[in-house]
Amino acid sequence: MALTRIGVGPVVGGALGGESGGLSRPPPQSIVILGGSGDLTRRKLLPALYHLGVAGLLPERYAVVGVSRSELDPGGFRRWARTSSESFCRCDVDAPDWRRFEAGLSHLSGDLGDLATFDRLAEHLGSMDREHGTEGRRLFYLATPPSAFAEVIRGLAESGLAAGSRVIVEKPFGHDAASAGALNRAIAAVFDETRVFRIDHYLGKETVQNLLVLRFANAILEPLWNRRHVDHVQMTVAEDIGIEGRGSFYEEVGALRDMVQPHILQVLTFVAMEPPGSLDADALLAEKLRVLRAIRPVEPSHVVRGQYLGYRSEPGVASASQAETFVALRLEVENDRWRGVPFFVRTGKSLARRTSEITIAFREPAIELFRSARSDGRGGNHLTVRIQPDEGIFLSFMAKRPGAALALGEAALDFWYEPTFKSRLVEAYERLLYDAMQGDRTLFTGGAGVERAWEILEPALADPPSPHRYLPGSWGPREADALIAPRRWNHPG
Ligand code: BG6
Repeated sequence: MALTRIGVGPVVGGALGGESGGLSRPPPQSIVILGGSGDLTRRKLLPALYHLGVAGLLPERYAVVGVSRSELDPGGFRRWARTSSESFCRCDVDAPDWRRFEAGLSHLSGDLGDLATFDRLAEHLGSMDREHGTEGRRLFYLATPPSAFAEVIRGLAESGLAAGSRVIVEKPFGHDAASAGALNRAIAAVFDETRVFRIDHYLGKETVQNLLVLRFANAILEPLWNRRHVDHVQMTVAEDIGIEGRGSFYEEVGALRDMVQPHILQVLTFVAMEPPGSLDADALLAEKLRVLRAIRPVEPSHVVRGQYLGYRSEPGVASASQAETFVALRLEVENDRWRGVPFFVRTGKSLARRTSEITIAFREPAIELFRSARSDGRGGNHLTVRIQPDEGIFLSFMAKRPGAALALGEAALDFWYEPTFKSRLVEAYERLLYDAMQGDRTLFTGGAGVERAWEILEPALADPPSPHRYLPGSWGPREADALIAPRRWNHPG
């Protein structure tokens, strides 16, 4: 399964750094991107597939089929795919590699609301099986706007394409618990759960997976990973960019739905979960669900919403918009390990810098021998896992400052991922596409977990407090500092 196969050992860098690193190729199949000329396809999916091809990790025989309303002939789709890969792949697009890759690319124009499109798709995939030897195996990627998910699933069912196929579903998965439940039921009527891959690209990030290794492959941390030793946990997912032209999307979604429900709560499960019985997808999903069920629905008074100044002038944004571009929450995990340990999370656009990190703040030592000698630092030890950029793990501790006087300062043990392992990190979408082609659900989210994540946020969604304004380039509204006080947010260094 995924974590044992890719996640441990230096094979990771080899795998997507240019060679297959001992990983097996997925079986022959067609990868069908529904919403095949959209932004996600351009920025993430095509570049990721191309790079998998370069690394020898696409199937030996494959077809990549984009389906969208755009009138693109095969040449037009290939040219567009090439420009996309040149702009967004973290590798160079090299002529011979590209020629090999593009041989499997095609596009089908059609309206996904029209069942006839799916009949034509079935014919097209039949000819792909004959031309490319894809053996009738299909992976459908729902990269459409979420409002189209239900009709796409119906189209796949009625055309017979769903039988035996796998489906990847992009976020947002519903807009509340009820709509996520309805979507889960619509999918379950057509696809067996083992064939459903709900994607949260944060779980594809290397450092997030490393949380499990850090916790469960080392003996030194787990004994401390609980309420007896941890004062609080905090997580920041900050972006320095604004909404980048996605005004109408953000107006409907906001930071809670865009970032907290799909990404932050999922990552928190890796921080807070109990050790799973094995690294099996089912064992992991079960533990993730257990911890999500232990998180109490958020108290509305524990939610701070913010909106950056200037947001209301963005195209597609209402002049009196109440959408949040920032949110900070205090969450409580009601189980024996975490009772009484607050989990503070914050995320936002147009913040001081781009950084995602989790900090475990340990309690102060019981014996306060050095209280009078402390000149700086936060006190207590902090373990920070930086998810991006400059991925790494840092442990802060108090040390004696050099000199005759007894003065203490905060020092750190730093581990940086790339220089230590001398290999580039695997890009999240590459990793997850590879796993889905292999049928490995370990790093995907379960239907019940997605619904539970919505339930946790329901009080904040039902009765959202008004957003506070903040300056672009700041760390969000002051009220977020009051939420965490007397503790302080970690200022990423
Ligand atoms: C997406 C959100 O899911 O994640 C975007 O819709 C956000 O608003 C993006 O910018 C952040 O992803 P990453 O990988 O750049 O941190």
